[in-house]
Amino acid sequence: MQTIAFYNLKGGVGKTATAVNLAWHAARWKHRTLLWDLDPQGAASFYLGADGEKGYKAGSLLKGRQPIGRLKVETRWDGLDVIPSDLTLRNLDVKLSESGNPRTALKKLIEPLGEHYSLTFLDCPPTLSPVAESIFAAADVLVVPVIPTHLSLRALEQVREWLKEKNYGDLKVLPFFNMVDRRRLLHLEMIVKPPAAMRGGLKTWIPYSTHVEQMGEHRAPIGEFASHTPAARAYRHLWFELADKLKL
Ligand SMILES: Nc1ncnc2c1ncn2[C@@H]1O[C@H](COP(=O)(O)OP(=O)(O)OP(=O)(O)O)[C@@H](O)[C@H]1O
Ligand SMILES: [Mg+2]
Repeated sequence: MQTIAFYNLKGGVGKTATAVNLAWHAARWKHRTLLWDLDPQGAASFYLGADGEKGYKAGSLLKGRQPIGRLKVETRWDGLDVIPSDLTLRNLDVKLSESGNPRTALKKLIEPLGEHYSLTFLDCPPTLSPVAESIFAAADVLVVPVIPTHLSLRALEQVREWLKEKNYGDLKVLPFFNMVDRRRLLHLEMIVKPPAAMRGGLKTWIPYSTHVEQMGEHRAPIGEFASHTPAARAYRHLWFELADKLKL
């Protein structure tokens, strides 16, 4: 099983939209896929129609009192399950600290999921807290959406520096551009000549598109309701590129 974290310390850059769309593609390609919504905001759970589920307590989960496998909910798409968000995830930092080994706590929880799934996607909250460290330890790869602006690139550099500082320098980091508007000179320049911060990343970029925003209205991945649009095509490409990188 491979664990893919959709992560950026910056909020609102497209982590959730990307996690949901790529998880949907993975399931269509017959990979048994689980998306764990680690964000108390619960946007991924909402998109996948799993937001009305009974919650769990992050604390009991970490203490091993609640088996993780029982938390999964089937979505209406074959091969795609989700662990919905829970409000107690707001205190995940505290709970991780209490668990004794915050670094490996998530990794240990995720390991048994390998019996049923070949891919686990983590939709992460925007943070550089102990939660992030736990995510870095659990993930095989970080997929990082970046908006083509200087501030967004700076956030990516900060993530890279932090990874180095915390000895996660070997973790594979795959940034890619999201919300690209080719009418903007800066966006155009950055996709034509990606800045050094984007090194080793995915070449596919996702255009700014109202169809992505409409995922909330349809409560479905974009491929379900706007499959012939440029944004849907871009996500398909992004999936193929990621699958190739991960040798899936
Ligand atoms: N390519 C895109 N084009 C247009 N809108 C987009 C695109 N990608 C994401 N969005 C929109 O931007 C907003 C933020 O996206 P999303 O929730 O995926 O980001 P996030 O990084 O998960 O945010 P958070 O940090 O709050 O979890 C949403 O309203 C989403 O619909
Ligand atoms: Mg999100």
